[in-house]
Amino acid sequence: DKGEYRHYMLKEIYEQPKVIKATMEGRITATRVLEQALGTDAENLLENVRHVQIIACGTSYHAGMVARYWIEDLAGVPCSVEVASEFRYRKHVIQPDTLFLCISQSGETADTLAALRQAKKAGFRAALAICNVPGSSLVRESDLVIMTQAGPEIGVASTKAFTTQLTALLIFTLALARHNGLNAEREADIVKAIHLLPGQVSDVLALDGEIEEMSKAFMDKNHSLFLGRGSQYPVAMEGALKLKEISYIHAEAYPAGELKHGPLALVDSEMPVVTVAPNNDLVEKLKSNLEEVRARGGELFVFADKAADVKPEEGLHVMQIPSVHEITAPIVYTVPLQLLSYHVAVLKGTDVDQPRNLAKSVTVE
Ligand code: M6R
Repeated sequence: DKGEYRHYMLKEIYEQPKVIKATMEGRITATRVLEQALGTDAENLLENVRHVQIIACGTSYHAGMVARYWIEDLAGVPCSVEVASEFRYRKHVIQPDTLFLCISQSGETADTLAALRQAKKAGFRAALAICNVPGSSLVRESDLVIMTQAGPEIGVASTKAFTTQLTALLIFTLALARHNGLNAEREADIVKAIHLLPGQVSDVLALDGEIEEMSKAFMDKNHSLFLGRGSQYPVAMEGALKLKEISYIHAEAYPAGELKHGPLALVDSEMPVVTVAPNNDLVEKLKSNLEEVRARGGELFVFADKAADVKPEEGLHVMQIPSVHEITAPIVYTVPLQLLSYHVAVLKGTDVDQPRNLAKSVTVE
């Protein structure tokens, strides 16, 4: 039931504070990840993990890409991420003591399941699933499971599944990092930031009206570019996927540093550029990328930390996002991009919840 909402997608976007909270509940205290957060066998299995191989498709793949930044940063464990349809059809080397991590909202995605089954033959330490559907094939076939508590996701465009996947992945990363020298102080700092997420996501939802206003600029465009750096690069990819999926506008995501290596040639007044720019040490670099776009007549839409000091100017639209912890920022910055694509799609009159040519669950290749 959509309740007061016009579309399931909007309802699911607005449910995020609640379902993020449900996903952290019972897994963290005020300052640390609980030992039993990943189930009783987990501590044993995590002990000697030397490598993490993440496999997923679509939005779930983007969650995996964010997790790679966290896993290498906080746990210092090498992490590879690959889309399931590529992984399953190539010869690959599984390193010793690999944790094989599949991410899937439905737990029934054909390519993801095939990749897991194939990897089982090659051997790995353990299979961990991050999944939203209890009793799904993925859950049944994995050694460890972290359920996201997103509740049923009806809209084909994945929203709340993604942010709860990220929440679960961050909790998992902390558990793994504890076996790899993460100190209690750093853990407490991040766990406190996780507790702030429901409130921060609500603060971003309050910007909905402004984002709706912004969406008008995209309505008559055929192309767009999404930029991000570091762990916000996958957020840019997710923003681009949402826009193409429901508004049918061609959207491409690039790591901001790649701009000069090709895509800058495309930028003109018909090519809006969306950038996610939290206030971390990459923001200065990002500012120079912004100048390059503006110098070519491109119109820029920047989602930036209030503290990052990005000032609106001619051709530069700034949406100020409340200051958030650098580690949890990808979760918060995803939300305005979901709202942006939602409003563009509504303006264009597309079928938001059932975009053409797509199915909610891709159970055949
Ligand atoms: O159920 P899964 O998470 O395995 O699904 C993976 C993709 O099919 C899915 O995320 C798809 O990309 C969404 N429609 C994106 O919004």
